[in-house]
Amino acid sequence: MRISVIGCGYLGAVHAAAMASIGHEVVGIDVDQHKIDALSRGEAPFFEPGLPELLAEGIESGRLRFTTDIAAAAGAQIHFVGVGTPQQAGRYAADLTYVNAALDSLLPYLRPGDVVAGKSTVPVGTAAELATRVAPTGATLTWNPEFLREGWAVQDTIDPDRLVLGVPSGAAGERAAQLVREVFYPAVDKGTPFIVTDYATAELVKVAANAFLATKISFINAMAEIAEVTGADVTQLADAIGHDERIGRRFLGAGIGFGGGCLPKDIRAFAARAEELGKHESVTFLREVDAINLRRRDRAVQLVIDALGGSVFGKRVAVLGAAFKPHSDDVRDSPALDAAVRLHGLGASVVVTDPQAVENARRVHPQLSYALDRDDAVRYADAILLATEWDEYRREFAPAHASSLTHGRIVIDGRNALDPATWRSAGWTYHGMGRP
Ligand code: UGA
Repeated sequence: MRISVIGCGYLGAVHAAAMASIGHEVVGIDVDQHKIDALSRGEAPFFEPGLPELLAEGIESGRLRFTTDIAAAAGAQIHFVGVGTPQQAGRYAADLTYVNAALDSLLPYLRPGDVVAGKSTVPVGTAAELATRVAPTGATLTWNPEFLREGWAVQDTIDPDRLVLGVPSGAAGERAAQLVREVFYPAVDKGTPFIVTDYATAELVKVAANAFLATKISFINAMAEIAEVTGADVTQLADAIGHDERIGRRFLGAGIGFGGGCLPKDIRAFAARAEELGKHESVTFLREVDAINLRRRDRAVQLVIDALGGSVFGKRVAVLGAAFKPHSDDVRDSPALDAAVRLHGLGASVVVTDPQAVENARRVHPQLSYALDRDDAVRYADAILLATEWDEYRREFAPAHASSLTHGRIVIDGRNALDPATWRSAGWTYHGMGRP
């Protein structure tokens, strides 16, 4: 099938490459010439395991190309729109500028029978409004939310755990659903749940999923706060409640909290939209979820201050991790970088390291010092803050080796990823988050 993918960021670039890998003829379109040049050379403009191989294979086969020219969308049967919907400056609501611009630029190239599949995370009600603009072209608008996780994006795109499609009622909607089913044939043939619904439900599924995940993380972080004043251990608590299948252990990792380009802005945009709909009380709890999450960053910084005797001024602090989570170079709203910046602001000499995200972190926070090598970051540190649980820090960093680099012997485990007993027996003062 001929496919166009408009927007080649984390979502669109992976989607385009994945679609080509399952045999479709794909053109990826983006306004950013720099990004298009890199993708056309088979280079991923961001770190995503498996993506470079998929790009190379697609370009080599001739099934995948990239351009800045929106006219290249002409002739495709299905047009995926995966542009960003960031938080509006100074507001909680989502900024739909890119979605509107992408759709406006696409309209002249749509033919009757074409399908437009919106993938961007949008406030509920957006698709219905966009559909009125698509209607005169004879094309059909559908909404196909994306649930991929950064770091696992290739796998999540080719083999998702469910597919959701919002369509208009009637024959056009049914035809569009059939076409989208054919696009995702490997997953559909495998029996992956394919949920065809209305626009509003499809839009809500996406924000509800992210709101639930954020709530789960903040729930366990709230328990960490209680554990901190009672001497309980939140990781054992999470293990114990996680054995209940109705609860489940995943996303009960207490620590410095969630960040990234999705969960924080999505729960805020959801709350803003609910307010517009006159239903703010239905999601008031999301404000709490957000607040609990942000308090964990304060807590991590406070643990470093306390461990260093009440002040970090003039102290050297190594921050292990800059990305918002491992297997990603994304530093958007990263708790790790946030903590690093705050410690720097309090007069600490902060050295940040990360296996993938140093370049991105340096661009946003040039005031911090960076080390590409973990050991260089840790050398002479008075304290170490583990802020992103890369294997390099959680599994492959022996306390005996750390002791050979620094005399500080203080480790703050912002992700509860280390074994406290191992570090303590090697002479380290260990502080977890919500652990005694
Ligand atoms: C999230 C969702 O998981 C995806 O399903 C969704 O498609 C995506 O947002 C999106 O909307 O595009 P992602 O932002 O890649 O994916 O990251 P997650 O794996 O969800 O992690 C989010 C944050 O939560 C990270 O900072 C992570 O460190 C933190 N986290 C995760 C915890 O603090 N504790 C946990 O137990 C799990």
